[in-house]
Amino acid sequence: MLGGSPVTEPVRYSVEDGIALIAVDNPPVNALSQAVRAGLDAAIARFAEDGEARIAVIYGVGRTFIAGADIREFGKPMAEPFLPDVINRIEASEKPVVAALHGTALGGGLEVALGCHYRVILASGRVGLPEVTLGILPGAGGTQRLPRLSGAEAALDLITSGRQVGAQEADWLNIVDYVAEGEDARAAGLEFARRLLVEECRARRTGEIDPGTKDAELFTSWRETVSRRARGQLSPVVAIDAIEAAYDLPLADGLVRERSLFTELMGSDQRAGLIHAFFAERAVAKIPEAGTATPRDLARIGIIGGGTMGSGIAVAALAGGLTVTLIERDADSAERARSLVEKLLNDGVRRGKMSEARRDALLADAFAAVTDYEALASADLVIEAVFEDMAVKKEVFARLDAVCRPGAILATNTSYLDVDEIAASTSRPADVIGFHFFSPAHVMRLLEVVVGDKTSADVVVTGFALAKKLKKIAVRAGVCDGFIGNRLLNAYRKAADYMVEDGASPYEIDAALVAFGFPMGPFAVSDLAGLDIAWAGRKRRAATRDPRERVVGVADRLCERGWFGQKTGRGYYLYEEGARRGKPDPEVEAIIAAERTEKGIVPRSFDSEEILRRYMAAMINEAAKIVEEGIALRPLDVDVTMLSGYGFPRWRGGPMHYADKVGLDTILADLRSFAEEDPYFWTPARLLVDLAERGGTFADLNKSA
Ligand code: 3HC
Ligand code: NAI
Repeated sequence: MLGGSPVTEPVRYSVEDGIALIAVDNPPVNALSQAVRAGLDAAIARFAEDGEARIAVIYGVGRTFIAGADIREFGKPMAEPFLPDVINRIEASEKPVVAALHGTALGGGLEVALGCHYRVILASGRVGLPEVTLGILPGAGGTQRLPRLSGAEAALDLITSGRQVGAQEADWLNIVDYVAEGEDARAAGLEFARRLLVEECRARRTGEIDPGTKDAELFTSWRETVSRRARGQLSPVVAIDAIEAAYDLPLADGLVRERSLFTELMGSDQRAGLIHAFFAERAVAKIPEAGTATPRDLARIGIIGGGTMGSGIAVAALAGGLTVTLIERDADSAERARSLVEKLLNDGVRRGKMSEARRDALLADAFAAVTDYEALASADLVIEAVFEDMAVKKEVFARLDAVCRPGAILATNTSYLDVDEIAASTSRPADVIGFHFFSPAHVMRLLEVVVGDKTSADVVVTGFALAKKLKKIAVRAGVCDGFIGNRLLNAYRKAADYMVEDGASPYEIDAALVAFGFPMGPFAVSDLAGLDIAWAGRKRRAATRDPRERVVGVADRLCERGWFGQKTGRGYYLYEEGARRGKPDPEVEAIIAAERTEKGIVPRSFDSEEILRRYMAAMINEAAKIVEEGIALRPLDVDVTMLSGYGFPRWRGGPMHYADKVGLDTILADLRSFAEEDPYFWTPARLLVDLAERGGTFADLNKSA
């Protein structure tokens, strides 16, 4: 019998052959809600009293062992019993307790297991302490017990990165005692418990293990590395203090220290930002089409164009289990595309993400680079990634329309162009959609699913299903110049260019944004992406540009000299032979000075606070317009786009979450004062004015949408 008599609803207690079975059943991921904590506590108390039971097994019902604390309870007052106390009582049990792990034993779930006396895991199981990714640290003994089992170095690695490890690695790291075959954690737990009974094993407490002497140098070097990598995020750095306490203090005091650091982080804005990001990434899948349509089958896909994007998309698709036929213009280009794909797969092998055998099998059986469109006759989906030119795209779609079977989805990876116009050039606009991948496409997690006027609902949900297969996050966007992400990028890039013309240097602006938490500033990003792409866009828009728009010529001057960024060794920065990091370039500063003189601008200085205020105000204002126009469904869709596609610091939660935190009235006041210099660019969005004037927030719109 699964279950037995309920102690509380989500935790059940039963006894089989002298073994107490404690089943945690709190779908979907057995999170440690108050009811689960109370249930576990009651079950352990009952086990202590139960003369029939000599050993206990805790396991999870459904797809996983406990996946951690209930994140929905964060930010609210915690209700008793508290998890550390429950775990201490499990550890204190006189009779042995076994944790039987499967699925993902994460955070508080792994901490429950570390408090148990023995741990068995199914070979498919994974464990981890991902708390730092939520802005906190393991707060139920993880920082004290893990180092006692795995040693300091492994604990520092796992806790500061939050990375999950598979069963085998968990075994090597001494986190588990046994890796069991099969699919049934309950059965594996029972079998292991029977063995322990035969061997007369006793309760064995992790907390009683001597962690050994502290290696102070190890902690110093981890602090340095982690602080550098964290880019302003506190939790990974604070977690090191907690782990160190395992070496400096006895267990009970170490647990108190851990709890106090945990509570401090729990109250931080960073925690709120990271939890917002966690739920927003899941909420983006809640789109109007979900539940109204079934995704179309996806097995064979075609890709047109095997350049930067096409080759990356091919690799992402191959890794996701799809068969890929790539079409290029001629045999040489097809061969080049094939080598690009092979190179990316080889990189994957080198980084340990894929075996050589799998790479060889994918290249031999699942990938072809050819020139004949007829090869796409049976494709389920074709993604076009040719040059960013409407005429070329239309020609490609006309050919696809002729060769693809009815029901095949025709997608474009365009960065800016009008998806409706492309759709209208086919006889099947309902099957046409934008799938906007980001570079490098096999790495970046964002996929903007750009829904045209005529795109059918099942094509939209297929886009979301594709993202899932490719382990990407899909965000639904409407059609406009640049969709969500690139439209925002255009706006904040202009704000940066205006500051440069008015007196800031590109290097000051980049430094201010790196200090904010971006991995790179906007000018370094332009150098990386290639200045020629934006130059082509500016030329395309020049004819239709509103005469009121302020235009900065600096980037054009660089492009006219052939300085396209990293690939040419020069852009805003100077790149010495092979260097990926550039140096400030006095010649660029001279070009900027000349532009200012020509326009009669007397340069003034900008401090990093003003740089940030202007950059963020431009971003938030454009984002408000995007939400107001329905291009993004909700503010959270903008946040996820910026977090997963544009390097916005995750711990700040995204621009809309950040705007709420700063206060919409403050943002509005900034916009109104900047609008006095340039009303065309800075006039506040109506949505922003409405919200600020009635004391609302973007978060309200997330809830009501
Ligand atoms: N608390 C509350 N809800 C949770 C949750 C949690 N810990 N973990 C997942 N959920 C919810 C999700 O929001 C989602 O809800 P929805 O269907 O309404 O959108 C649902 O469970 C399913 O989640 P996923 O869509 O993410 O399912 P997957 O199968 O893709 O992934 C998972 C499962 C790997 C468990 C993933 O959900 C995950 O990583 N969860 C977070 C795990 C975590 O961070 N645990 C640590 C918590 S902090 C902690 O334990 C503190 C302790 O030290 C005191
Ligand atoms: P690219 O220049 O690297 O590759 C384009 C490829 O298309 C070339 O290999 C070319 O030979 C091929 N091609 C051109 N016409 C063709 C045709 N008629 N049939 C078959 N193949 C043809 O360009 P990139 O950067 O890969 O961009 C492709 C598309 O993706 C563009 O629309 C671009 O806006 C978009 N995009 C680019 C991003 C980037 O960061 N590079 C990011 C997201 C989207």
